[in-house]
Amino acid sequence: MGMFAVEPSNSAASDAERAAALSDPGFGRVFTDHMATAVWTPDAGWHDHRIGALRPFTLHPSAAVLHYAQEVFEGLKAYRHADGSVWLFRPDRNAARLASSARRLALPELDEVTFIESVTELVRLDQAWVPAHGGEQSLYLRPFMFASEAFLGVRPAVEITYCVIASPVAGFFHGGVSGVRLWVSTDHTRAAPGGTGAAKCGGNYASGLAAQLQAQRRGCDQVMYLDGVEHEWLEESGAMNMFLVTADRELITPSLGTILDGITRDSVLRLADSHGLTPVQRPVSLTELRRRCADGSVTEAFAAGTAALITPIVEFAGDTYDVRVADGEPGKATLALREHLLDIQYGRAEDRHGWLRRVE
Ligand SMILES: Cc1ncc(COP(=O)(O)O)c(C=O)c1O
Repeated sequence: MGMFAVEPSNSAASDAERAAALSDPGFGRVFTDHMATAVWTPDAGWHDHRIGALRPFTLHPSAAVLHYAQEVFEGLKAYRHADGSVWLFRPDRNAARLASSARRLALPELDEVTFIESVTELVRLDQAWVPAHGGEQSLYLRPFMFASEAFLGVRPAVEITYCVIASPVAGFFHGGVSGVRLWVSTDHTRAAPGGTGAAKCGGNYASGLAAQLQAQRRGCDQVMYLDGVEHEWLEESGAMNMFLVTADRELITPSLGTILDGITRDSVLRLADSHGLTPVQRPVSLTELRRRCADGSVTEAFAAGTAALITPIVEFAGDTYDVRVADGEPGKATLALREHLLDIQYGRAEDRHGWLRRVE
């Protein structure tokens, strides 16, 4: 008997409605029948764990999250293997990151067991929504917690709501494997030392929207952020970590600190060896990127994240320059790493690191 009381929805989608929704899910538009919730108060701790019908929240207009953005979230996926079984990828890492984001936002931590039970039980109940094996579709899970206390004033809230919702998804980028162009933003930054860059909190994304519009106006797919002090060091993209492959087989990614500790980033670094690449984490300057793309010693670039998978970067565009990576085509190592990671996630390659956890 689990911690979450399960009350199945009596208005779940019919098989035909679900099939229609799954035929072209896009990203983040279609939701399953259920949600998991729990509530935290200082006296009772986490309580009222439930999985029930997906429904809107009722919030008082003064709910602290609406004013002071005390909120954190996660993103992970459930994958269907060829034998019909359903698996999560490294959910323990999402649990740890949610706890660390929560600490930064003065929110209560949710322990790993509760986190994993919340996502596992939700996926189990909504397993018919996990897309079929064979494409690049999956069930995206969005655990989040927010200050639901009705209160105007700046202090950590004393009523917090935790929730998990689930959304069947296809790829994140229309460009897909053909590669994306990134806008190198010099007038917007995402994070500063001591700030919230390493936390997955909504405010980081709200502050990036203006830069994202700017990127779109320049014909780019996403923003590449630079550091907030010197505007010279590569950080990450809007929802992805950044990698470079060099002619001497280094796989370079910016060091952690003010960026999100991406689970795809960590996985790619651990797979590097088996692709004859040396993983390197160090600061990377815009000057180095421009010089090495120009002289050909950077041969590939890609971005990595749960939603975006591994996406080739074919161009970096700035105010006064355009930097093409190699011949502007997705690189070989990029595509091989992408295939390898997807093969592990979908059960087609050996899971040597023990990353998969079976749900059903
Ligand atoms: C800002 C940011 N960087 C990087 C990532 C990649 O992290 P992960 O690989 O854990 O999905 C994400 C989320 O997907 C993100 O929002």
